[in-house]
Amino acid sequence: MVTKTVLITGASSGIGQAFAEELATRDTHLILVARSQDKLYRLAKQLQEKTSSDVEVIVQDLTESQAGQKVYDWVEDKGLAVDLLINNAGFGDYGPFAERDLSRQLEMIQLNVTVLVELTHLFLSPMQQRGEGSIINVASIAGFQALPYLSTYAATKAFVLSFTEALWAENKDKGINFLALCPGPTESNFFEAAQFPQSFENKNNGSLTSAETVVKDALNALDNCKSNVVTGGMTNNLIVNASRFFPREFLLSAVEKQFSPK
Ligand SMILES: NC(=O)c1ccc[n+]([C@@H]2O[C@H](COP(=O)([O-])OP(=O)(O)OC[C@H]3O[C@@H](n4cnc5c(N)ncnc54)[C@H](OP(=O)(O)O)[C@@H]3O)[C@@H](O)[C@H]2O)c1
Repeated sequence: MVTKTVLITGASSGIGQAFAEELATRDTHLILVARSQDKLYRLAKQLQEKTSSDVEVIVQDLTESQAGQKVYDWVEDKGLAVDLLINNAGFGDYGPFAERDLSRQLEMIQLNVTVLVELTHLFLSPMQQRGEGSIINVASIAGFQALPYLSTYAATKAFVLSFTEALWAENKDKGINFLALCPGPTESNFFEAAQFPQSFENKNNGSLTSAETVVKDALNALDNCKSNVVTGGMTNNLIVNASRFFPREFLLSAVEKQFSPK
């Protein structure tokens, strides 16, 4: 079997780490990208001890200018060809939009959208030349529904979902698989990074899906050439389809009540 090279952004925790752990069991050459040097090297060491996969690390803040190009150049310099790109790095920011830090909103757009587009563009061309490859872009169920108090975040995920589905259709007959992964609430550092209040986290604790389950569902969907997958069961599937059955204002008001800090 030919060893596949997989590049995962945001591999130092949560869903990205779970992708690394699962794919390491499949005899891959992994390239892990994030800012947390210690976490990445610790994970790389653990995976190399436990599996036969090669694991390499790129310590990179993906919000820096030219970050995507730097990652791409690193891969090129090593003479590697990425077979599976997982654009997973991302964060949210909870609270009333006008009260949140503007620079944080712009950084979120840079990470969740701009660098994802940059990496997709850079790595897609060589995949098209080879006539094979896969790209998983991590969106969210938030991509299907505007979210008051997570307004910028939900908008970035709507972008990722739309962008990825369009590329699925453009590339389906060229040997390239695209998947928009749309998790519902999942165990990870996401809620802490987004500064959700502890009370909100406690309320949702019982209903969180494990990152391992999200990854298994994603890899199954990729194998089945799906354009998107909603993980986390029936409730999340109902949420993403709600706009087909209810007026938009009704849904927005209901979601506003659910997410309101008051
Ligand atoms: N958890 C959920 O409920 C949920 C639901 C739907 C979608 N998602 C999406 O899933 C993806 C993964 O998030 P998660 O839930 O696993 O959260 P997480 O545990 O907070 O992981 C986020 C990852 O992104 C990396 N990251 C953050 N800022 C970065 C930057 N500037 N440059 C490079 N890497 C950066 C973090 O690493 P460093 O801090 O080391 O850089 C970390 O590895 C995100 O796109 C998120 O929007 C999550």
